[in-house]
Amino acid sequence: MSVPRGQIESVYLHWAKLRSAAPVNLATSAVAPFPLAELPLRIEDVVAHDPGAYGYPPLQERLARYAGVDAECVVAAPGASMANYLAMAAVLEPGDEVLLERPAYEPILAAARFLGAEVRRFERRRQNGFRADPEEIEHAITPRTRLIVLANLHNPTSALAREDDLRALGAIAARAGARVLVDEVYLEGLYARRPRTAFHLGSQFLVTSSLTKAFGLADLRCGWVLAEPSLARRIWRVRDLHDVNSAHAAERLAVVALDHIDRLAARAEGLLAVNRPLASRFLDAHPHLPLLRPEFGNVIALRAPSRNSGTDAPVGEADDFCDFLRERYETAVVPGRFFEMPECFRLGIGGETAELREGLSRLAAAAEEFARR
Ligand SMILES: Cc1ncc(COP(=O)(O)O)c(C=O)c1O
Repeated sequence: MSVPRGQIESVYLHWAKLRSAAPVNLATSAVAPFPLAELPLRIEDVVAHDPGAYGYPPLQERLARYAGVDAECVVAAPGASMANYLAMAAVLEPGDEVLLERPAYEPILAAARFLGAEVRRFERRRQNGFRADPEEIEHAITPRTRLIVLANLHNPTSALAREDDLRALGAIAARAGARVLVDEVYLEGLYARRPRTAFHLGSQFLVTSSLTKAFGLADLRCGWVLAEPSLARRIWRVRDLHDVNSAHAAERLAVVALDHIDRLAARAEGLLAVNRPLASRFLDAHPHLPLLRPEFGNVIALRAPSRNSGTDAPVGEADDFCDFLRERYETAVVPGRFFEMPECFRLGIGGETAELREGLSRLAAAAEEFARR
């Protein structure tokens, strides 16, 4: 049943903006914000007139180099969120079918519906390690499918897609005359071990990403789409319908950040190198909670503790647990209902170490108390 456009919204972002704050916040999915003041900035680096073309050339050049593509394939966008929206808006007509992963990052699902797409789903299954399984896609695709959408790393499980699966998926899409949109915003968090972007797997691939999650630069809104040149030009024209230009000061800051990206990566990796073992110790102590123990990424999907411990929590209990954790332990995580996993919650591990340590200890106490109630 289709929802009228006037009623489509992102319930997750509404919650994230109004309800996610807490004294101890494990709801965030990015590494802790990078202090921009640590970059060698002069005021002239930021305050300057924007010549107002399709992309600020120095930023286009840096993004192209970072992604390993030609600059004509890069469309700058305000964050991966807007990149996703623009990419879908450029390839979809109302009524077109989109095949979207489940579980999914809810705003991308809501945006596809807002654009008038008919959304079908393919499953990423727990017993399969939340793999983007070509068989599932083959099973769900129809002759009307115009776009397949997935995130790599997957949100909320941080499952890493295999390149052979992405290739197979590309072949399935090509046979159906569809494109594949891969949101790689968390793939940047593999840093030096980052595989080549899926963009290189064929002209049917579009990729979106940003500096938000892996580098802690959400405030810059430095996102991008990678697309074959003619589609990239179309996406620029769609962007014209939504905003004239990027905030030029942010574009210039992004240039400086990209010129120092190794430093930003080293800082984020250093943080995760300390945080990941803390999270691992927590998972070792609560082996029935994690749905997947990811090697990379800033988020982990956990089953909510059950009152009859050790078994799957009945639906609804994860919400109860998240409320309990917030009210009694002043700690926020993301309820799984926002990811179509109502029995789960998402734990962010990329924040400041002291906050994570405190949060995990509160989480452990809350889980124990919740199970006893
Ligand atoms: C899969 C996914 N894509 C995009 C975004 C948005 O990122 P940005 O801050 O770059 O808009 C998020 C944020 O949670 C996300 O999880």
